[in-house]
Amino acid sequence: MQNKKRRELLIGASAIAGASMLPSIAFAQSAKLRVGLMLPYTGTYAQLGTAIENGLKLALDQSGGKFGGREVDFFKVDDESDPAKATENANRLITRDKVDVLIGSVHSGVAMGMLKVAKESGTLMLIPNAGADAATGALCTPNVFRTSFSNWQPVHPLGKVMVDKGHKKAVFITWKYAAGEESLASFKEGFTAAGGTVEKALFVPFPNVEFQALLTEIASIKPDAVACFFAGGGAVKFVKDYAAAGLKDKIPLYGSGFLTEGVLAAQGEAAEGLFTTLHYADSLDNARNKAFRSAFSKAYKVEPDVYSVQGYDTGLLLAQALDKVKGDVGNQKAIIAAMEGAVVDSPRGQWKMSKAHNPIQDIYLRRVEKGDNKVIGVAWKALEDPARGCKLG
Ligand code: BEZ
Repeated sequence: MQNKKRRELLIGASAIAGASMLPSIAFAQSAKLRVGLMLPYTGTYAQLGTAIENGLKLALDQSGGKFGGREVDFFKVDDESDPAKATENANRLITRDKVDVLIGSVHSGVAMGMLKVAKESGTLMLIPNAGADAATGALCTPNVFRTSFSNWQPVHPLGKVMVDKGHKKAVFITWKYAAGEESLASFKEGFTAAGGTVEKALFVPFPNVEFQALLTEIASIKPDAVACFFAGGGAVKFVKDYAAAGLKDKIPLYGSGFLTEGVLAAQGEAAEGLFTTLHYADSLDNARNKAFRSAFSKAYKVEPDVYSVQGYDTGLLLAQALDKVKGDVGNQKAIIAAMEGAVVDSPRGQWKMSKAHNPIQDIYLRRVEKGDNKVIGVAWKALEDPARGCKLG
């Protein structure tokens, strides 16, 4: 284990020098904390990566530029949302850059590659977006925590919302990779339980945005409504194409809330009125959200979104846990205990960690109104991922 090994080396060095252990640990803690950031900075999720980094850095600024009393050196990698490069990138951050903590990523497939490396090396890893169910399910592991959501969570309440609005037959459309497939599975579970039927699931390869043939198919199926998972640049194109195809007023479109996060200005009129479910909404009426939104927009000259909140919460969690061990990253047992017991005072509302290391959080029903994701109500209070197959806790 990387951290254990590093700690043993430090202890060994002080023993050889015949000194007490304390000076070496004090030295280690006065060194800068090495944080590896593996995020997309190019491609359809580029904006999401930047929003996460900015949120994280805002939390760092607000804790005086230090986590656990230590200044931070960032080691950044553009993961390009490419799962094929994930293990190599993560390995480089750990072996070459010797990071103490690995943070990433946005894309579920990339996060799963990172998780494998984190698990093998014992490196502490925080997931600030990617929803891959297995990360806090069948492949959960003590040194990996997620500060965002599981793919199961945001869409699970959507089925009931749609049935309550009178839609019994739906088509689901998404990208063909873990986030899309797991969103579909969760939506189907909730929609079927509420009395609905998914008539057809339609897929495009990630990150393609050629939707025309599938929109024609939707028009011919004529479902009561369409539900979907898209995010980033692909979400802009899908929402605009859906409206341009003349479907918006005929077959209502719903989505997991990523559909309208950070992209409303680009989607314009085509997004107005869309209902989505997510663990955040711009207009959440709590003091924490207002203060966060004002500080974020002042610092970065753009409005924050769910990704900025997740980056911010990653910083809050890291600060909380490292403060408890006074910056001693070698004390992983205590860091894990601190993270497991953490209550994060987030702009999304307070949340705590599940036993599987995933947020237990409210899922909001939102509607796009005048270019804002306006909160309509709580679609599901304190929703906990089922964490199927996880043996932690
Ligand atoms: C994912 O790949 O897990 C993901 C990407 C963007 C938004 C939400 C989930």
